[in-house]
Amino acid sequence: MRFTKVIQGLEYTEVKLMKIIIAVLAAAVFCAPAGAVDQAGIERRVNALLSRMTLEEKLGQLQQLAGEANGDLHPEHLVLAKKGALGSTLHVRGAARVNELQKAALASRLKIPLLFSFDVIHGYRTIFPVPLAETASWDTDIVREAASVAAAESRAAGIRWTFAPMVDIARDPRWGRIVEGSGEDTWLGSAMARARVNGFQGADYSAPGKIAACAKHWAAYGAAEGGRDYNSTDVSERTLREIYFPPFKAALEEGVATFMSAFNDLNGVPATANRWLMTDILRKEWGFQGFVVSDYTAVDELINHGIAADGAEAAAKALTAGVDMEMVSRSYNSEGARLLKEKRISPAQLDEAVRRVLRVKFRAGIFDSPLADEKEEADVLLAPAHLKAARNAAVRSFVLLKNDGALPLSGALSSIAVIGALAADKEAPLGPWVGDGRARDTVDILRGLRERAGAGIKVSYSPVGGPLDKSTDFSGALEAARGADAVIAVVGENQEMSGEASSRSSLALPGNQLELLKALRAAGKPVIAVLMNGRPLEIGWLADNLSAVLEIWHPGTMAGGAVADVLFGDASPGGKLPFSWPRATGQVPFYYNHRNTGRPANPDAKYSSRYLDLAITPQFPFGYGLSYSSFTLSGFELSASVIPAKGSLIASALLENVSSRAGDEVVQLYIRRKAASSTRPVRELRGFTRVTLLPGEKRRIEFKLGHKELGFLDEKFRFKVEPGELTVWISTSSEGGLTGSFRVSK
Ligand code: GLC
Repeated sequence: MRFTKVIQGLEYTEVKLMKIIIAVLAAAVFCAPAGAVDQAGIERRVNALLSRMTLEEKLGQLQQLAGEANGDLHPEHLVLAKKGALGSTLHVRGAARVNELQKAALASRLKIPLLFSFDVIHGYRTIFPVPLAETASWDTDIVREAASVAAAESRAAGIRWTFAPMVDIARDPRWGRIVEGSGEDTWLGSAMARARVNGFQGADYSAPGKIAACAKHWAAYGAAEGGRDYNSTDVSERTLREIYFPPFKAALEEGVATFMSAFNDLNGVPATANRWLMTDILRKEWGFQGFVVSDYTAVDELINHGIAADGAEAAAKALTAGVDMEMVSRSYNSEGARLLKEKRISPAQLDEAVRRVLRVKFRAGIFDSPLADEKEEADVLLAPAHLKAARNAAVRSFVLLKNDGALPLSGALSSIAVIGALAADKEAPLGPWVGDGRARDTVDILRGLRERAGAGIKVSYSPVGGPLDKSTDFSGALEAARGADAVIAVVGENQEMSGEASSRSSLALPGNQLELLKALRAAGKPVIAVLMNGRPLEIGWLADNLSAVLEIWHPGTMAGGAVADVLFGDASPGGKLPFSWPRATGQVPFYYNHRNTGRPANPDAKYSSRYLDLAITPQFPFGYGLSYSSFTLSGFELSASVIPAKGSLIASALLENVSSRAGDEVVQLYIRRKAASSTRPVRELRGFTRVTLLPGEKRRIEFKLGHKELGFLDEKFRFKVEPGELTVWISTSSEGGLTGSFRVSK
């Protein structure tokens, strides 16, 4: 029986430890730090260039314009580029088109190259699972790899800057953009932010296959009231600093090149005009050296917000706040000269914004290598290794929510009925923000199942039932179900039901899908629901009445293969929920790391923080997910019962695979402070690791608890470890687990 140790997610055996020690010693002696970028040289080049620029050229660098959705450029772009009056485009893509426009910029007086950007959120041409799904893998290696593949394909297509990662925490799943982020938890979201920035940029984003990243949307965009996109947010400074800011700080610490200002009004000041966010926090407190781009027309939208009378005032407020580049609206360029003349902005402000943009352009390497290699593009897009990575990411993102034994499908089956429009849909698996993905490349679920079933299993299909289907005639589906040993119903949301401008007032299964499932269940066959969705949905009836429920999210180009891998048992699901799954819409905003209140919810106590008509518990808790294997946790240990405020300890437990199948488990560590200088959550995630164990294998999983894990913001928002008692859980979700406590001494 192999006995290994896992510390913070890294598996150590004696041999491996020796190899690591030798490698570290060798690196220290022979290698310069990887990715060292000549920052001083870049500053010299920036300032030398800046000193030669005219006002029109300076304002041009602060202008980003949009190309066509299909990647075409506009004739105006060529004219502006030749004049040095354009800094960047979004959407323009494809090596040949990019080069055509870049050559126009290189023909300008100062030959400043354009920075080509695009929303490569979860893949360029090879589309990976949506970010919420990737997060559900709880596997930062997978997330990093997905971003790395997206960067490689984007770079081959001439893109040098992506508007990702989206790191907005979301506690209200009515908000459509929950699908684009990492869910409700700050610790998990911060880990994913670091992994994505590292995947896109590496140590040096001028390197081949790498692109500049963008942390968005700064800040608290996910706190939109009512879950309605673009709506106002009103968030206390403590909640901003404890919940919404840390993933952005993590991205910055990972070296993210740029930030994007959010659409929303934050506490009465729209983010795009919010100097506290853009300068006081981002520059002065955090030392950010890159540049901030506004969101799409967000500068001119300051007029709608009611804090700017016209474009000139909007431009003055945004630039003064610290927004350096204007996306699509043109007030910086149209009003800049006047604002300087009227001293509403200063030459120094303008120069600093241009300096930041030039700095990122130099760091991105586009001065030294401005053109795309038109020969490599075709070989890189949809490369077999990329498709394989996308399929693996999808498999690892799936979350098994219920299984009465119906999964994996038995080899004895001779027929299965696949039901639902989503099963043959080629757009829905790609989810929102499809980059340059093409539906025709999607392996849809029906195809995946047919290819895996082969000749031995008859696969029938009925398109009855779907997110937009209102029909109550289920006869076609029932006929298919009656003729099959098992029914696989693919239900959920289509591509347009989550993402930007796609908030829903209800989390109900849309269309006629719940009624369809009830009819199928009544037909008496085991029904397996495969959920394709971008947010949690009301699925209480499914959980209570169906044989199995597998969450597949929007799984990307390789959806069908990945679903077949898991349904037929070629792979075991191991994902965990990145949010608390509400029982009903009425519960939201809803999250596990809530404060206790003075009257904690107690179903038996009328005067407690609860509902009269619904349990306040989740349908499924944050961090929850089943496997085809079975695991036990035992042997909880704390290496100390008391530590000093500057001390640390190790919490550990023994994980054992007690089944006959190899599989993955995600072991999670949570803490709670019972008494502190501010009210603390009832649980806070402070460590996780996904491990694969063979049948019968045991592994002691260790977590270090030190300053980073135990600290929190005191009444002056200083990060400190306070004396007091803490409870620790080691578990496989945010509920239950092995527990113990220790004290931090004065
Ligand atoms: C959109 C989104 C933002 C995106 C930008 C460019 O409105 O809010 O996330 O990066 O515009 O497409």
